[in-house]
Amino acid sequence: PALASKHEPTHKIDVVAHRGAAGYAPENTMAAFHKGVEMKADYIELDVQMTKDGHLVIIHDNTVDRTTNGTGKVGELTLQELRALDAGSKFNPAFAGERIPTFEEVLDEFHGKTGLLIELKSPELYPGIEEKVAIALRERNMDKPANEKIIVQSFNFESMKTFRQLMPNMPIGVLTSSASDLTDEKLDEFATYANYVNPSQKLVTKQVVERVHARDMDISAWTVRKKEEVKPLLDAGVDDIITDYPDYVPHHTQYR
Ligand code: G3P
Ligand code: CA
Repeated sequence: PALASKHEPTHKIDVVAHRGAAGYAPENTMAAFHKGVEMKADYIELDVQMTKDGHLVIIHDNTVDRTTNGTGKVGELTLQELRALDAGSKFNPAFAGERIPTFEEVLDEFHGKTGLLIELKSPELYPGIEEKVAIALRERNMDKPANEKIIVQSFNFESMKTFRQLMPNMPIGVLTSSASDLTDEKLDEFATYANYVNPSQKLVTKQVVERVHARDMDISAWTVRKKEEVKPLLDAGVDDIITDYPDYVPHHTQYR
């Protein structure tokens, strides 16, 4: 039989390991990404920013203060300075020695092994970051993602429009935590360049899911950190659940 359309009532949920499996390992480190793969997540999610000397690195905050033993802004530190920091100990001393990964390192390690949900974090701070991300993907023949799962997403919609121009075949996602981005007008505009609308879970209802699907886009909800948060999202009919705890989501199940 033909595969069920992803928008039919019964469909497979994709599980996304948020910042790697950030509930179980220090976020946005190789340890966390490996943990996500080990837990059989369909995707790992990662936040991309740029160093002072123009290298792409994987870190969520605009400063290194919360997740490492250093201080300062990502964009004011060189790659060498960032790589000297410990990105594991604050989560748990057992992870001492984990480093801030480079984007290229993550691509080389995980390309072909798991899906990649690549977030451009605060791209307005890093002029030209879209081109650099596109070059890194193109160098690895990842610009024709028909046979693998790759999505590029951001809260910055202008950045995603730019990315759509740079890489016409790449699935694009828009992130939002604001209900004002879910009006018919906004959704119509997203549909001109995006494939995913990815709202904070607090905004997700069956109606929102239906209105996104009606425009032939998918919807991924974030960030699940409690078991009881899963069922309402499944009931609403989301396509993907982004979670720090990949094992909280019934995996590879057809859900009705
Ligand atoms: O992938 C969705 C989620 O990562 C967006 O929020 O702040 O965790 O990057 P944040
Ligand atoms: Ca993110």
